[in-house]
Amino acid sequence: MADQKAILKAGDKEIELPILSGTAGQDVIDIRALGKHGYFTYDPGFLATGSCESSITFIDGAEGVLLHRGFPIDELARDANYLEVCHMLLHGDAPNKEEYEEFENTIKRHTMVHEQIHMFFHGFRNDAHPMAMLNGTVGAMSSFYHSDLDVSNFDMRVRCAHRLIAKMPTLVAMCYKYNIGQPFVYPRNDLSYAANFLNMMFSVPAEDYKISPAVERAMDRIFTLHADHEQNASTSTVRLAGSSGANPYACIAAGVASLWGPAHGGANEACLNMLEEIGSVDRIPEFINRAKDKNDPFRLMGFGHRVYKNHDPRATVMRESCHEVLKELNVQDPLLDVAMELERIALEDPYFAEKKLFPNVDFYSGIVLKAIGIPTNMFTCIFALSRTVGWISHWHEMMSDPAQKIGRPRQLYTGHNQRKYTPIK
Ligand code: CMC
Repeated sequence: MADQKAILKAGDKEIELPILSGTAGQDVIDIRALGKHGYFTYDPGFLATGSCESSITFIDGAEGVLLHRGFPIDELARDANYLEVCHMLLHGDAPNKEEYEEFENTIKRHTMVHEQIHMFFHGFRNDAHPMAMLNGTVGAMSSFYHSDLDVSNFDMRVRCAHRLIAKMPTLVAMCYKYNIGQPFVYPRNDLSYAANFLNMMFSVPAEDYKISPAVERAMDRIFTLHADHEQNASTSTVRLAGSSGANPYACIAAGVASLWGPAHGGANEACLNMLEEIGSVDRIPEFINRAKDKNDPFRLMGFGHRVYKNHDPRATVMRESCHEVLKELNVQDPLLDVAMELERIALEDPYFAEKKLFPNVDFYSGIVLKAIGIPTNMFTCIFALSRTVGWISHWHEMMSDPAQKIGRPRQLYTGHNQRKYTPIK
């Protein structure tokens, strides 16, 4: 922490505010004392606001850097698996061999969901959106784990995190099976985390299902690349919900809700829908022109990012994975040709270069998920599954802080001043 100060001249007042430095990244002006001088700050969309102190993930948007516990995302995607990344996010460091085995074993021993959860599914329409079912069933888990859960207890919080990491693949696969009218498949603890998920998604009781190692690798990489992304909309939602001391399963359901929108995790589904709407390579210029037209609300889904203004390091890895998977699986899909051509044209277009709009991770992850046979409406559920470790690690970090307070932003009020009410009669 630096002992520099910022001086704010507000009217005839001069207010001294401390400047704090983290281990990396921009310094922050600590405005906590501002309220007692008669001012709040105003920052809709949190364009310049840090909401907490965190040691989990670091992003340098200008340089395209993403570190989890100090480890670069490209190294993790290449050399670590998802469960190792989960361990570092939740427990603070990369596991050694024994720690990894213990962690993997713990996660595998929590993969089943309570049988009563099946009943919740039967209350949904068959064509319900999987994110709607996931939101409901994750929230419903709070009814199984509530009365004996003390959120101020460290071990109980860790147990809850293990349960969530273990059960999310089971719930997500159940959403899919319910949609297509196939029986739910129970988890198999002899398989890797990714292979178990694929097995619950694609196997049926009537025949064997063989998991392609290329698909298993691609799945694990998608999980890894979406595991955490510091204080984004859904993570901030989980923190804010949890700051009141609420049940963590209910908080994760709040994260699922926030993730669903097309500006956040819903972008992967929206991107594939957009590629379908474009339909053929010759129609790309028409859509590029629409994206550039100020009077048209259309945006190129899977392009742009609030933080990355150079490149999205996750997209760089995902792009490699994407080309690898398409080649290995020898997938022939006209939509993928549209995607590759759209990428090429948009990257050459001065509008996109000027506004620093590059394909983000969800542009490529959508293509990979489609290539490995995951239906479009399941994409955001897979993002939610992957991000659960990030959400719960942030919740755990927040709850471990003795100075933790309920989150409560203020506002710039623009409504009526006090006036007299005339009774309707
Ligand atoms: N297509 C066309 N124009 C765009 C796009 C796009 N995808 N994204 C931003 N712009 C333009 C926007 O019109 C604006 O132009 P101007 O300065 O002339 O008004 C400028 O670029 C800046 O946009 P912004 O909305 O102020 O930027 P933001 O930082 O608030 O929004 C974003 C970031 C991701 C919401 C936005 O880029 C977007 O809507 N992208 C498409 C949805 C998407 O792919 N989201 C997934 C993000 S990655 C997954 C995740 O981490 O959740």
